[in-house]
Amino acid sequence: MNFLSAAGMTTELLQEFEENLRRSVSEDDFIKESCTPLIQGGKRLRPMLFLLCANAHENISPEKTLPLAVALELIHTASLVHDDILDNSKKRRGTETAHSLYGSQIAVLIGDYLFAKAFQLVAENNYGDEVAQILSDLVKNLCRGEISQDLSLFSVPTMKDYYDRINLKTAIFISICCKLGGIVAGLNRDEVRGLTIYGNSMGLAFQIVDDLLDFFGNEKITGKNLGGDVKSGVITLPVIRALKVSDESKMLHEIVTNQEIAQREFSSAVTIVRTTDAFTYCKLRAQAHVDAAIINLPTEIKNSVRRTLEQVADFVVMRNS
Ligand code: IPE
Ligand code: IPE
Ligand code: MG
Ligand code: MG
Repeated sequence: MNFLSAAGMTTELLQEFEENLRRSVSEDDFIKESCTPLIQGGKRLRPMLFLLCANAHENISPEKTLPLAVALELIHTASLVHDDILDNSKKRRGTETAHSLYGSQIAVLIGDYLFAKAFQLVAENNYGDEVAQILSDLVKNLCRGEISQDLSLFSVPTMKDYYDRINLKTAIFISICCKLGGIVAGLNRDEVRGLTIYGNSMGLAFQIVDDLLDFFGNEKITGKNLGGDVKSGVITLPVIRALKVSDESKMLHEIVTNQEIAQREFSSAVTIVRTTDAFTYCKLRAQAHVDAAIINLPTEIKNSVRRTLEQVADFVVMRNS
């Protein structure tokens, strides 16, 4: 997201972030060797949102922001390592997932290590109890979202269940990145609230688009395997829509609700979904959340930051990776 430089995110700050992130996983040979590739290649959406919001009024010192920005990316990476075990995903960011390389047992521990490292950074840099508590809430909600998803594999969620799940596993995380930026910068309650709502709405849109890309994306660009959600039994908005409007709804239902058939026929499900209006439907929903996000941006923040947050929101709907 190159437009970050437009909001005062200097190349040096971004490079320093990358350097600190790399250093955070260099404690011993195995951690360094296994985690260095895992932290590479992501969009850095969460730490960048945090940094943007932290600089909403004036630029604050990197010492105050970078450790927490790194902690957020470490928590995200940890959640992906564990998520890939749950989803049995073989590819992430264009390369092999941790559990494909090292087995699930080691991958669980790598994820645990990354979570612990994040909380160590927060403690060492004296962010205080409020920040620690907010981060614990983030991880707890993420786990609740992933657990509820895992408990209902191969069953069609209601729209409410779908939204509850994507809120817990993704939107709360993104909203907390914005909230923490506001808190670290000492913004007033209304401003923090506006940024938090912005992040939450955008987070919903972000996961809807992620779910869409599982059917309509390009593997070379997303770095993940197409159809992975159907294969692992996760029924998302594109399928919910297709089940409602497709002529082949019965066949689609049979595939997505039966583990054995889904494993074999997941690409037929992808084809069925692709022949419906699921793409437009999901994009429109995502766009509605992004519109709500932008409306809630506090008016008092710096113009350059505000514009960039609007651009990030637009990127979330348009993105193909
Ligand atoms: C992937 O997040 C997990 C979701 C919540 C959809 P990202 O799409 O931000 O992953 P990276 O960091 O860019 O790889
Ligand atoms: C988000 O859901 C995962 C986390 C909250 C960690 P997905 O399972 O859809 O994410 P991807 O598609 O694997 O990145
Ligand atoms: Mg996954
Ligand atoms: Mg996904």
